[in-house]
Amino acid sequence: MAAITDMVSLEQRGDIALVLIDNPPVNALSHGVRLGLLRAFEQVADDAAVKGVVLACRGRTFIAGADITEFGKPPKAPGLQEPQTAIEDCPKPVVAAIHGTALGGGLEVAMCAHYRVGDPAAQYGQPEVKLGLLPGAGGTQRLPRVTGVAKALEMCAIGDPIGSQEALAAGLIDAIIEGDLVDGAVAFAEQLVAEGAPLKKIRDRDEKIEEARANRAVFDDFRKSIARKTRNFHAPAKNVDLIEAALDTPFDDALEQEREVFEDLMAGRQSQAQRYYFFAERQAAKVPDLPRDTALREVRTVGILGAGTMGGGIAMNFLNAGVPVKIVERDRESLERGIGVVRKNYQRSARRGRFTMEQVEERMSLLDAGTDKSVFADVDMVIEAVFELMPLKKSVFTELDAICREGAILATNTSGLNVNEIAAVTKRPHDVIGTHFFSPANVMKLLEIVRGDETAEDVLATTLQVSKTIGKIPAVVGVAPGFVGNRLLHQRGLEAERLILEGAPPARVDSVLYEFGLPMGPFAMGDLAGLDVGWDPDDTHGRTVREVLCESGRRGQKNGRGYYIYDPETRAPSPDPEVLDLIRDFASRHGVAQRDDHSDEEILDRCLLPMANMGAKILEEGKAMRSSDIDVVWVNGYGWPVYQGGPMFWAEGMGLDTVAAKIKDYGAKLGGAHWELSPLIEQLASEGNSFQDLPPQKIR
Ligand code: 3HC
Ligand code: NAI
Repeated sequence: MAAITDMVSLEQRGDIALVLIDNPPVNALSHGVRLGLLRAFEQVADDAAVKGVVLACRGRTFIAGADITEFGKPPKAPGLQEPQTAIEDCPKPVVAAIHGTALGGGLEVAMCAHYRVGDPAAQYGQPEVKLGLLPGAGGTQRLPRVTGVAKALEMCAIGDPIGSQEALAAGLIDAIIEGDLVDGAVAFAEQLVAEGAPLKKIRDRDEKIEEARANRAVFDDFRKSIARKTRNFHAPAKNVDLIEAALDTPFDDALEQEREVFEDLMAGRQSQAQRYYFFAERQAAKVPDLPRDTALREVRTVGILGAGTMGGGIAMNFLNAGVPVKIVERDRESLERGIGVVRKNYQRSARRGRFTMEQVEERMSLLDAGTDKSVFADVDMVIEAVFELMPLKKSVFTELDAICREGAILATNTSGLNVNEIAAVTKRPHDVIGTHFFSPANVMKLLEIVRGDETAEDVLATTLQVSKTIGKIPAVVGVAPGFVGNRLLHQRGLEAERLILEGAPPARVDSVLYEFGLPMGPFAMGDLAGLDVGWDPDDTHGRTVREVLCESGRRGQKNGRGYYIYDPETRAPSPDPEVLDLIRDFASRHGVAQRDDHSDEEILDRCLLPMANMGAKILEEGKAMRSSDIDVVWVNGYGWPVYQGGPMFWAEGMGLDTVAAKIKDYGAKLGGAHWELSPLIEQLASEGNSFQDLPPQKIR
């Protein structure tokens, strides 16, 4: 075997040359890979002993794409096009042998080979759109030529990968190889050589493009079908436009256009945010002071206490992952109601075709339900999801401490109570941790993992692993009221309420935040959750607008009237003049002057800057490890648009000196603790630094 570069080697297998990429962890197309591919294909083209070529990768995957860490840095030749041309123009048949994931530039390289084979579990995709981009190395032009336009639109503009069977059916690969992939690919190449098979270049194929020319409506239909889901995103529409360009633009011109759009998108703020977020999510699972080799505890069975809104949803995550669950309620009635909801949710998914009825039964058969906590004696982890009352939490943790085996993890799903205080009632506070799921717990991706003062390292490491098993995105946070997510939410609520008192209608505030990209504004969200959550009818004195609304019988969507009035048929919200009167009345009683000149910028700044300010205070307190973790919480737990990065990324995008000046200015005009500037922002701004310059810190 000859090394071409430190990332690419060349080996002869009879008549066939094997070009092997080895660039862990994911064989990204770093400079050494591009250079190695170029040299290797130049070499095999001239080597008379080589009759065919197999391109494969070592390690866990085929090329998973361009090296994202190189983005935004000065380009280093060769780019990707040179090796791609060397592969496509190779005078001998080239077979790409794919295992793991052929993604982005990886699939684009594979599409320059004359043939492609994959192992049964391989996946193929153009996920660039998820980074705010489009395929920048021919994907928008080659993919529709090989799979047809409809599949290419889905793969590029939505970005989800397809498996080997689907790839074979779509014509993207030529064979599925059972057994050793490289041996199979070499045999495949030998056969091509023996048959004198043609060198098939996707770029020259026109039949599927011709089909699309006869049915151009497919593009507008597709645009309509993704409009809602891709609202405000720039990249999806560009992917569609470029694929449409394949119908009428000569191949090389289209490649050039694709490259230009790729570079435009790359320079834009959306892609910057989405690339930042890609790494943020991966960082969030890393705890700097947790040794990498921490031995994990085994979690084979899980107990859940409380089968209410959260307990049932939490159970579904484990059942979906094939982990047996014992769920315990305080009485039969609550138990049956809780289990009924779980079953109903599963049946609804089955009706929608997400899985079969047998799979529903399979999941339900992993669920053991009862009213006796002693069944927790042999589970590996218990997650408590009873009412949010400290005395109750303390009493059930005392019981769990007595029942559970030594080494079992005791987790609480509290949404804001002090995890240290709960842990302190047990004889094993080191086994106690917070697992704060978000509602609906079977759907929302975020898991705030609350590290208590005493939480053992292996308990934290195991809980991180558990979150991976059940497909959650974790963010490790410290013990503080509301942890990270709800603490930021509260800041936004304070200023949103002030804005409506000053005369900005709730619908106006909501619409500015909706246009920014959030799924809904604070008032629509309040109506959806129910205005009476946390409202006590025996202790209500018109202290807030929300209390006034509850007192006047407005409960939100559930009774058709809240900040908005809801159409009984369609449930569409409309602003209600009666609410505006109530607010005006409240404001005049409290001496708040009315104005009608709030700009969008002011509304946005006033709602969002206090969030970033609180995020910075959380960092000062050591309750989050890094600012990007705070962004992960808000993107996954609250629907912050990923193209805005997260509240911390959004704020640092305007420059922390501007942020500091604005916060001081608003603070002077408006007052309130949420406008007291975080010393961390002040310090970073004065140094010309930003949140991302801070090293990750230990949770304190
Ligand atoms: N470039 C650089 N690093 C990458 C990378 C890439 N394309 N893809 C993954 N990595 C890194 C991750 O940051 C992580 O690093 P870490 O261990 O230091 O945190 C490591 O590889 C492993 O990644 P994951 O933790 O995500 O591992 P998984 O096994 O869960 O997933 C994967 C593997 C499916 C390949 C996933 O990493 C992935 O989806 N990667 C991104 C794929 C992608 O978006 N490709 C397109 C890139 S853009 C492009 O190709 C442009 C072209 O059109 C010109
Ligand atoms: P819920 O009221 O829907 O369910 C609580 C369940 O616990 C009820 O079914 C009740 O019968 C049961 N229960 C009470 N005492 C019990 C006992 N001693 N033994 C066994 N079961 C008992 O409440 P929800 O919404 O599920 O909340 C549970 C926990 O999750 C709370 O701590 C809450 O703060 C937290 N949480 C709630 C979120 C939400 O959006 N609902 C989001 C995140 C966390």
